[in-house]
Amino acid sequence: MVEYTTIHKKLHDLKHLFPSSFTLFTFLWIAVFASVFLWQRNAVGGYFVLLEGTPMRTLPLLRPVDFNLIDFGGVGDGVTINTKAFEKAVFEISKLGEKGGGQLNVPSGFWLTAPFNLTSHITLFLAQDAVILGIQDEKYWPLMPPLPSYGYGREHLGPRYSSLIHGQNLKDVVITGHNGTINGQGQIWWTKYLHKLLNHTRGPLVQLMWSSNIVISNITLLDSPFWTLHPYDCKNVTIKNVTILAPVYKAPNTDGIDPDSCEDMLIEDCYISVGDDAIAIKSGWDQYGIAYGKPSKNIVIRNLVVRSNVSAGISIGSEMSGGVSNITIENILIWNSRRAIRIKTAPGRGGYVSQITYKNLTFNNVRVGIVIKTDYNQHPDTRYDSNALPILKDISFTNVRGKGVKVAVRIQGSKGIPVRNVTFHDMLVGITKKKKHIFQCAFVEGRVIGTIFPAPCGNFDQYNEQGKLVKHSSSYNVTNIDYEI
Ligand SMILES: *[C@@H]1O[C@H](CO)[C@@H](O)[C@H](O)[C@H]1NC(C)=O
Ligand SMILES: *[C@@H]1O[C@H](CO)[C@@H](O)[C@H](O)[C@H]1NC(C)=O
Ligand SMILES: *[C@@H]1O[C@H](CO)[C@@H](O)[C@H](O)[C@H]1NC(C)=O
Ligand SMILES: *[C@@H]1O[C@H](CO)[C@@H](O)[C@H](O)[C@H]1NC(C)=O
Ligand SMILES: *[C@@H]1O[C@H](CO)[C@@H](O)[C@H](O)[C@H]1NC(C)=O
Ligand SMILES: *[C@@H]1O[C@H](CO)[C@@H](O)[C@H](O)[C@H]1NC(C)=O
Ligand SMILES: *[C@@H]1O[C@H](CO)[C@@H](O)[C@H](O)[C@H]1NC(C)=O
Ligand SMILES: *[C@@H]1O[C@H](CO)[C@@H](O)[C@H](O)[C@H]1NC(C)=O
Ligand SMILES: *[C@@H]1O[C@H](CO)[C@@H](O)[C@H](O)[C@H]1NC(C)=O
Ligand SMILES: *[C@@H]1O[C@H](CO)[C@@H](O)[C@H](O)[C@H]1NC(C)=O
Ligand SMILES: *[C@@H]1O[C@H](CO)[C@@H](O)[C@H](O)[C@H]1NC(C)=O
Repeated sequence: MVEYTTIHKKLHDLKHLFPSSFTLFTFLWIAVFASVFLWQRNAVGGYFVLLEGTPMRTLPLLRPVDFNLIDFGGVGDGVTINTKAFEKAVFEISKLGEKGGGQLNVPSGFWLTAPFNLTSHITLFLAQDAVILGIQDEKYWPLMPPLPSYGYGREHLGPRYSSLIHGQNLKDVVITGHNGTINGQGQIWWTKYLHKLLNHTRGPLVQLMWSSNIVISNITLLDSPFWTLHPYDCKNVTIKNVTILAPVYKAPNTDGIDPDSCEDMLIEDCYISVGDDAIAIKSGWDQYGIAYGKPSKNIVIRNLVVRSNVSAGISIGSEMSGGVSNITIENILIWNSRRAIRIKTAPGRGGYVSQITYKNLTFNNVRVGIVIKTDYNQHPDTRYDSNALPILKDISFTNVRGKGVKVAVRIQGSKGIPVRNVTFHDMLVGITKKKKHIFQCAFVEGRVIGTIFPAPCGNFDQYNEQGKLVKHSSSYNVTNIDYEI
């Protein structure tokens, strides 16, 4: 390990000496030469293993300078606490902002740590088989004030635990790797939560607040204590090729990704299987979210495979008090899940959900395909304004496919919160049991275009593929909601 680091550094030094004429060939030649030289000089030890076992992938240099956690005293034995090493490394990199920042390489090994903060212009690079482990003792987890748009810690009054990897007011942050892992070791948190042994809200795995220009890619996030990846009031965030895993059952609130009051976000090519919503777009809770007033907008979510046994694949809400608009969700496979798509809200939330475009959704063995629910009555306290009624409108579904679905659609608007201008364009969802209530509606208006199976409820105007009105809706407030199925 130590030898490897030294070689790695030397090669980087060489590369800096001959920046322009340094071809890949010379690089490889020197690498081989240096390997043989060092191997002969010191045939026993870690490096020998490297030559014999699976070759260690060379880590790319993505910043002008890189560091190795080991150089800050890190020990990857799964027992030593590495918080100081992470902090020292981050501090070193915080001085390099002007020069393009720095990269912190976390080599293969188990790196136990308490929560730590990132800095701007950092690339945290997790090598193959590098695992950052969250320490399982809450006294190492610092408390911080509640999120302003929630007023509360979410589960408890007052402060909440920090996320394992945290950052505030940062610019240009990259967390990437050769599919290394950040493991929150959430089991102990879930158990304590279920037994009501915690006095504060659990911490997310990775949370970046008030930050911009963020890339999270090519890593695995495992067993978060709470929501896994929580960008809060951030701008320009890309999440690509990330695997997010937690047990699908009895891992409470382990949402995959929660874009919260964020704008300009792209989430693509991810696999997510967790104990709550795979993705939940949010923007604050009741009067606190209304006062904070920061929407989630301009978000593209595509090419995902997701699974949620207890909640939904892709959700919006229920905390949406700052508004949610201009969201595109496409090419999503939702499998073995309770619900595929859900929009949830309640009186008191205020805000709006509008310009939501779903395209090319595939449901494979889900109980309810599409759900819009307007009575999700979970409130931070009793001081919410029950007249703050959210607006739900301009929502379209194009090309929905599926099999093994019990209820294809359940759109439950209400007199106070009608759901307006919903469009279905081509839907073919195979139903497990041919029952009556497989397309349920209440207080919803809109239109269906082209082939729709199962047959839509009478609340919709029906158009043919040529855009010709075939049948006018009977009454938009017809209701056939049936929770029994
Ligand atoms: C991280 O930074 C925030 C904001 O400055 C601070 O409240 C928190 O205590 C810091 N966390 C750690 C682990 O230092
Ligand atoms: C996704 O990550 C894996 C593991 O790091 C990598 O092998 C693969 O090339 C990545 N794919 C894309 C599209 O970036
Ligand atoms: C990354 O690692 C996770 C967990 O070990 C694995 O499930 C996933 O398939 C890997 N991703 C890629 C692209 O190799
Ligand atoms: C929660 O508070 C109680 C009462 O103050 C205390 O006995 C207990 O140790 C606290 N638990 C945690 C996990 O902090
Ligand atoms: C968004 O962030 C990426 C990654 O840091 C950066 O390359 C890009 O320039 C940013 N875009 C804008 C519009 O700031
Ligand atoms: C992900 O990893 C692949 C393969 O190593 C690499 O080509 C790609 O640039 C990485 N993507 C990002 C966004 O880091
Ligand atoms: C909607 O979001 C997309 C993708 O982020 C963006 O390109 C587009 O400009 C946004 N549209 C509006 C009207 O803001
Ligand atoms: C639809 O989404 C699936 C993934 O669920 C993807 O394989 C397919 O290519 C997509 N189709 C189009 C036309 O983009
Ligand atoms: C959720 O998990 C439970 C327990 O493993 C299982 O019985 C149930 O069928 C699962 N539900 C779905 C929708 O996959
Ligand atoms: C209905 O929603 C669609 C997008 O789904 C939008 O293009 C259209 O303008 C909306 N119609 C009205 C009357 O607002
Ligand atoms: C349903 O709508 C009709 C008009 O279409 C109206 O007369 C009736 O009062 C509405 N019913 C309810 C329960 O709001």
